[in-house]
Amino acid sequence: MTIVAVVMQKGGVGKTMTATNVAGTLAMQGNSVRLYDANPYQSSSYQWGQVRIDSGVPQNLSVVRVDQNYGHAVTADAPNFDHIVIDCPPNLDMETRVAMAVADVILIPLRVGQFDAWSLAQTAQIVRQRRASVTTPVRAIAFVNAVPHYIKAELDESIDVIKEMEEDFELGPTIIDRAAYRKGAKLGLSVMELPPEYRDGKATDEFGTLMAGVFNG
Ligand SMILES: Nc1ncnc2c1ncn2[C@@H]1O[C@H](COP(=O)(O)OP(=O)(O)OP(=O)(O)O)[C@@H](O)[C@H]1O
Ligand SMILES: [Mg+2]
Repeated sequence: MTIVAVVMQKGGVGKTMTATNVAGTLAMQGNSVRLYDANPYQSSSYQWGQVRIDSGVPQNLSVVRVDQNYGHAVTADAPNFDHIVIDCPPNLDMETRVAMAVADVILIPLRVGQFDAWSLAQTAQIVRQRRASVTTPVRAIAFVNAVPHYIKAELDESIDVIKEMEEDFELGPTIIDRAAYRKGAKLGLSVMELPPEYRDGKATDEFGTLMAGVFNG
C-alpha cells in the first residue's frame, strides 16, 4: 500500500499527466486504486476518470474529488485500496499540505528552466518540514517532464538543479514531450493502456522506469 502525492506549486508542469498515468498503470497491473483529484479549480483527473468509465477497461480505479475532510478520507480509504494517488493543485495551500502529510512518496514534475528551478527550492522546504514531522521515511522524487527533443543543454541544467538538491530529492527519469501522453489524457487511459494504433514504446519504457523507481525503489 503506497500513497503517492503528485506535487508542484507551479502550474502546467504535468501533475495531472503523472497522477493519471501512475494510477492507470497501477490499475492495469490489477491493483485497486483510488485517485484523488485535489484540484478544486479544475478537475482534470476527475474528468479523465469519467472518460475512463466509458473506455472499456476494468473499473478497479475510482477517481474522486476532495472536500475539506479529505485528509481523514484518505486515512479511512487506505485499508480498502492497494494504492492511493493524489493529484494536487498548483499551489502549496491546504489540499497540497494534506497530501504531503499523508504521502509515502512525493512525486514532483518540473519543466526545463529557471522558474521551475526556483519553485523546486520552495517545494524542498515543505518536503523538509514533512520529513521533520515523522519518523517514517518520506521519499521525494523530482523529474523533468515534457522535454522537447531539441533542448539537451537546457535539460542537463535542470537535471543538475535536482542533483544539487540530493539531500531533498531523488532524481527521477526524464519524461519527453510525446503525443502518447496527450492521447492517454483524451481517452482516459495511461500510456501503458493505449490501444495498439496509439501505443508508443518509448513512452511506455520511460514511464515504466518512473513506475519502477516509485514502487520498487
Ligand atoms: N510528457 C508530456 N508529453 C506531452 N504532453 C504533456 C506531457 N506532460 C504534460 N503534457 C501536457 O501538458 C499540459 C499540462 O499538463 P498537466 O495538466 O498534467 O499539468 P498540471 O501540472 O496538472 O497543471 P495544473 O497545475 O494546471 O494542474 C497538458 O495539456 C498535458 O497533456
Ligand atoms: Mg493538474
